[in-house]
Amino acid sequence: MQKLLIKGKKELSGVISISGSKNATLPILAGSLLAKKAKLSNVPLVKDIYTMMDLLKFIGLKIKINKKQKIIELKNLRKKINTSAPYKLVKTMRAGVLVLGPLLTKYKKAKVSLPGGCAIGSRPVDLHLLALKKLGAKIKIKDGYIIAEAKKGLKGAKIKFPSISVGATENALLAAYGAEGKTILSNCAIEPEIIDLILFLKKLGCKIIVSGRKITVYGKSLNKKNISHRIIFDRIEAGTYLIAGALIGKKITIKKIKSKTLMSEIKILKKMGIKILQSKDSISISKSKNLKKYNINTKPYPGFPTDLQAQLMVLMTQASGVSKIRENIFENRFMHIPELKRMGAKIEIKNKTAYIYGPTKLTGAEVMATDLRASVSLVLAGLIAENRTIINRIYHLDRGYESIEDKLKKCKAEIKRK
Ligand code: UD1
Repeated sequence: MQKLLIKGKKELSGVISISGSKNATLPILAGSLLAKKAKLSNVPLVKDIYTMMDLLKFIGLKIKINKKQKIIELKNLRKKINTSAPYKLVKTMRAGVLVLGPLLTKYKKAKVSLPGGCAIGSRPVDLHLLALKKLGAKIKIKDGYIIAEAKKGLKGAKIKFPSISVGATENALLAAYGAEGKTILSNCAIEPEIIDLILFLKKLGCKIIVSGRKITVYGKSLNKKNISHRIIFDRIEAGTYLIAGALIGKKITIKKIKSKTLMSEIKILKKMGIKILQSKDSISISKSKNLKKYNINTKPYPGFPTDLQAQLMVLMTQASGVSKIRENIFENRFMHIPELKRMGAKIEIKNKTAYIYGPTKLTGAEVMATDLRASVSLVLAGLIAENRTIINRIYHLDRGYESIEDKLKKCKAEIKRK
């Protein structure tokens, strides 16, 4: 099994190009089932994207990837396809469940494995199913599979989500695309990745209006268009490298971004005392000697993202005083804390809140990655720790961070894979 070895305390300087967003690419790949031909550019070359491509190939799409140009071309020209998604492909990547909406709306039936839980929580799909049922699908669960059918096709409906879910909003949008008539979704997630999916569906000829957390979709009879779409930048990857710069940057510049999308992260870093220089499409950041404590609550967008919580926690170990992080989205997303504590961090958990006592000196240790964002928080900790840090189980990292060692090495970090 591969490991990352990091020799800490090397000041970072240089420029990092941010990749396309994994979380935008996944639903858009699922949405490509609705197109005849789709060409996606700025696609991140990470494991989850390959898993989704394997799933779409299993279903029957022809897929070509140009790794150098980061372009994926998909063709869905076959009359008969396989409307199922097997356990072996959905269990490693929950976003596989996003093929449910497009399959059902286009082919009137789908059989998709239930994704099951994962390290960060139980992660049910009840909200996905609620939306599809409201659109007229008959759904049963059998042998670990969701078996869905809409013999006469889906019909537009009014759906109010009882709580906000990114995946359920995406599945509902994808299904509403081919439903007859108007669908009004309320209490939706409105993450930038969802707005990117909406842009993609609009290019496919669908009229969609977003007003706050309400999204109205005017169902479209299935379309024959060939479309091209450029994926938005990965705001979580961008936030991660901003935090690396705040921790140990002489000067790190991130580019290929939109600063506007990162407003809440920039505001927090500034409040913690970090100097940031920003233009429309790049941000430069350096470490500050006097970091101030801060309190955050993770929330759906435009709130602070749960996907950046573990990384910000590492920064908080270097701030003076007691910082607090309340995790509101996932029930088990503090798995990085025991590992950070092994590196010297002082952190206590009470209910859903972590109390981070700082500043503390971190020292290298052998640690274990437990999920994608927890893994990257250990990389950040390794960058500022004394001596050497060894991170095991880095396959989690490879699911979502493109060329992380190369990007950090270019900024003078001492990091290698073994
Ligand atoms: C997506 C992101 C993930 C991010 C998360 C929250 C992708 C591929 N993944 O995951 O990186 O951490 O949003 O921003 O885009 N829930 C239910 N029932 C459901 C669905 C969700 O109870 O049917 C709960 C979840 O358990 C969780 C909360 O709702 O507590 C939010 O989850 P959701 O927004 O759906 O996350 P994902 O779409 O799985």
